[in-house]
Amino acid sequence: MDGVRPMVDMTTQLATLTLPNPVLTASGCAAAGRELHQFFDVAALGAVVTKSIMMRPRSGRATPRMAETPSGMLNSIGLQGPGIDAFIDTDLAWLAEHGARTVVSIAGGHTDEYVELARRLNGHPAVSMLEVNISCPNVESRGQVFACDAIASSRVIGAVRRAADPSLPVFAKLSPDVTDITLIARACADAGADGFSLINTLLGMVIDTDTMAPALGGGTGGLSGPAIRPVAVRCVWQVRRALPHLPILGMGGIRSGLDALQFVLAGASAVSVGTAVFGDPSAPVRVLAELEQALDDRGFAALADAVGYAHRRPADRLVPEAAEVAAG
Ligand code: SIN
Repeated sequence: MDGVRPMVDMTTQLATLTLPNPVLTASGCAAAGRELHQFFDVAALGAVVTKSIMMRPRSGRATPRMAETPSGMLNSIGLQGPGIDAFIDTDLAWLAEHGARTVVSIAGGHTDEYVELARRLNGHPAVSMLEVNISCPNVESRGQVFACDAIASSRVIGAVRRAADPSLPVFAKLSPDVTDITLIARACADAGADGFSLINTLLGMVIDTDTMAPALGGGTGGLSGPAIRPVAVRCVWQVRRALPHLPILGMGGIRSGLDALQFVLAGASAVSVGTAVFGDPSAPVRVLAELEQALDDRGFAALADAVGYAHRRPADRLVPEAAEVAAG
């Protein structure tokens, strides 16, 4: 770095939605952005992705709900939230007032609940996109993890796509806990998904060796943080290769601009910074600055040129400036 601000075109496209930059929050890690706003202007991000909202208020799972793991954490929140009416009146109103682009994450126990949520959000000026969370691991029944089954996934995504305002991109948030994520992605694409959020947490468990029982009240939880980054990058890579025409919002253990760059090179058009904000609330804006610098260092004039770059044949891969970086 020479202290000169890089001049990279950081705008990005998630289906019909144009964002000024590719760094977003991750659902569940920044509530509706209010707390982070003490540290930076949330309108400076590509968008705020809100905690998954359900129709009715929900208290979530038994405590304890968090456990430390090597290079990560487990959560077992259980989709705690105020319900859609309070969310629209308070959180969405606050985001609109502060000029933040908003991706609303919706979650349901059955297809009709997702449909009703999409309808309630139609026409709200603050909503830029819907992220359909079909992959929360912290539900009573594994049958409710729709993203573990191609037919269940396509049913939910198709119904939401039909119910939602046609101008709103509908992204399916998928689980890595499947044998072949591209089969689920294809089913969602066929049902009308405009893109994908990859990935949700992996199902995990910690046993407390003093109590000799599961550390989390809910028993199992979702693993996030740097420990899952290689899994997330692999999922982005596979889905990009299978469905190169559909945009990807990548997430999973992003802590730095170089972490974000891995996702972009694998095929993500934007990234969400999640678990990192618990230790460093300013992480999203720092990651954005670092990503811009990393792109500049490698000779990219625009973020869009780097999306999926790692899929190029080796002979086409190195731009001259990147060759210099690689050579040190
Ligand atoms: C939760 O509220 O349990 C987490 C949501 C998710 O991982 O989708």
